[in-house]
Amino acid sequence: MSSGRGLIGRRRGGNTWLRTGLIIFIIIFISLQINFLSYRGSSDSNSELNDSNAAILSMVPAVLHKFLTPRPRNVSSSLGLNGTTGANAAYSKWTLNISDIKRNIAQYNLQQTVYNEDIFGPLQNDSVVIVIQIHDRITYLRHLIVSLAQARGISQALLVFSHDYYDEEINSLVQSVDFCKVIQIFYPYSIQTHPHEFPGEDPNDCPRDIKREQALIQKCNNALYPDLYGHYREAKFTQTKHHWWWKANRVFNQLEITRNHTGLVVFLEEDHYVAEDFIYILKLMERTCKESCKHCNILSLGTYLKTFNYYGDAKKKEALRAIKQQSILSAGQVHPSWTFQVLPSLYQHSQKVEITPWISSKHNMGMAFNRSTWMDIVGCADYFCKYDDYNWDWSLQHISQNCLKHKFHAMVVRGPRVFHIGECGVHHKKNNCESTAVISKVQQVLNTAKRHLYPNYLTLTYTTLLKKTKLRKGNGGWGDRRDHKLCMSMTLR
Ligand SMILES: *[C@@H]1O[C@H](CO)[C@@H](O)[C@H](O)[C@H]1NC(C)=O
Ligand SMILES: *[C@@H]1O[C@H](CO)[C@@H](O)[C@H](O)[C@H]1NC(C)=O
Ligand SMILES: *[C@@H]1O[C@H](CO)[C@@H](O)[C@H](O)[C@H]1NC(C)=O
Ligand SMILES: *[C@@H]1O[C@H](CO)[C@@H](O)[C@H](O)[C@H]1NC(C)=O
Ligand SMILES: *[C@@H]1O[C@H](CO)[C@@H](O)[C@H](O)[C@H]1NC(C)=O
Ligand SMILES: *[C@@H]1O[C@H](CO)[C@@H](O)[C@H](O)[C@H]1NC(C)=O
Ligand SMILES: *[C@@H]1O[C@H](CO)[C@@H](O)[C@H](O)[C@H]1NC(C)=O
Repeated sequence: MSSGRGLIGRRRGGNTWLRTGLIIFIIIFISLQINFLSYRGSSDSNSELNDSNAAILSMVPAVLHKFLTPRPRNVSSSLGLNGTTGANAAYSKWTLNISDIKRNIAQYNLQQTVYNEDIFGPLQNDSVVIVIQIHDRITYLRHLIVSLAQARGISQALLVFSHDYYDEEINSLVQSVDFCKVIQIFYPYSIQTHPHEFPGEDPNDCPRDIKREQALIQKCNNALYPDLYGHYREAKFTQTKHHWWWKANRVFNQLEITRNHTGLVVFLEEDHYVAEDFIYILKLMERTCKESCKHCNILSLGTYLKTFNYYGDAKKKEALRAIKQQSILSAGQVHPSWTFQVLPSLYQHSQKVEITPWISSKHNMGMAFNRSTWMDIVGCADYFCKYDDYNWDWSLQHISQNCLKHKFHAMVVRGPRVFHIGECGVHHKKNNCESTAVISKVQQVLNTAKRHLYPNYLTLTYTTLLKKTKLRKGNGGWGDRRDHKLCMSMTLR
């Protein structure tokens, strides 16, 4: 934090609002009144949340409790674990060394075992493929799995778990999924398996803040290639975009089970949570597009503004903690706001969808598209891989603005069917990233909204961007030629 920037700072730092104004175009919403209300989670009477574990479990059918309860482990294999499921260093204590992990990863990627195919049958061309990008936050993943298990139509779907962190406990959780077909893929260039070499951090890499002249004198690896803000590469900030690109290529072009698939592919992350009608809605949106929006090429299931990455969350947590401390000092009281901004009332319009130019920061959550959109994207691989921005979604925006003949146009559902539960619960006593308050709140919202789910039809509203604008320059963090090369090398046309 003291270094003051960062990747995050560029993107959502102090001058975010100014930036956003400049950056995210000037958007005029026609006929659109945004129903999102900021939900204050402090002391209003209706916001008393019972987010005890018991309360959360009580909202989950008993047969699914197994996904939320860590299995008791034998002492020898439970180093650092204590029944709880923290999502960090504890897991690095596995007895596996890096070469073991690499070998296992290679084996998984070679074998491409599809679990439960015998029970649920082969993938149909109208099945939904759900790709989930996973790092190491198993607690959130447990809840995502529980939400997926309750989705109507899930038994026809294929879940692709794409990992950039190898962990036996996550593996056994994933392999315990019994409600649909499952396959695991492992990003092979992770920092975990390359701790001291590119794409991890090479000891001879230039420090982030060194001046270029100094770097040239030192002759550190990437001296010639700071990003457009003059900073040198930070490995941990590059992984999410690499992983995103790798898994998309892998799913569309390589995996035996999906490489001929023509239907929808949905992209989720480990800290998402889905509504039970999300597949139903996707298919309804798909049909509606065919009839009423032929130029729509992306479907989006979440509408609120949020971009995130694993590391961003950690930094944000620090920032929020600082804010909290300050407000305690200054006001004697904290008024944190909920990071998700959804009220049950939103679902009274649950049949509403918006047709809009795709905007990365708004429509990146619960995104779905099919092979034809993918072909457009991969045809612009250069634009994705060489754009000086470490965010995959902004890189897609760059493609849309500068390379595509038909820019991304999205159909976005107004009542969100995907939620981001991975925010650190600032308002809470525990003040940690494991807070269950958000999960509890999402459960309540969905429960209240239940009768509004499964609409029979969709009504369309249209949003246009009146002002044509160029995308501003990127967020940086992606200036290193080695990243460009790695990204291009993962591209399969
Ligand atoms: C929270 O909910 C659980 C289970 O429903 C209940 O046992 C517990 O008493 C509740 N706690 C509070 C503070 O309401
Ligand atoms: C765990 O220990 C029990 C007995 O204490 C044994 O039966 C079981 O096979 C062990 N499981 C593993 C995975 O080692
Ligand atoms: C497990 O938790 C207990 C009680 O909270 C604590 O005393 C013990 O040290 C913990 N063990 C480990 C390995 O963290
Ligand atoms: C890693 O561990 C395996 C045993 O699990 C051992 O055979 C191998 O030599 C180890 N490799 C390295 C590089 O330490
Ligand atoms: C899906 O498969 C069926 C039967 O094999 C075929 O008739 C249909 O055209 C296919 N649909 C698409 C979109 O490929
Ligand atoms: C996918 O298509 C290729 C070429 O058209 C074919 O060789 C392969 O068998 C197909 N794979 C599956 C799983 O259908
Ligand atoms: C894929 O999506 C495009 C719109 O991006 C649509 O025109 C096309 O019909 C879809 N293809 C299939 C096989 O559903």
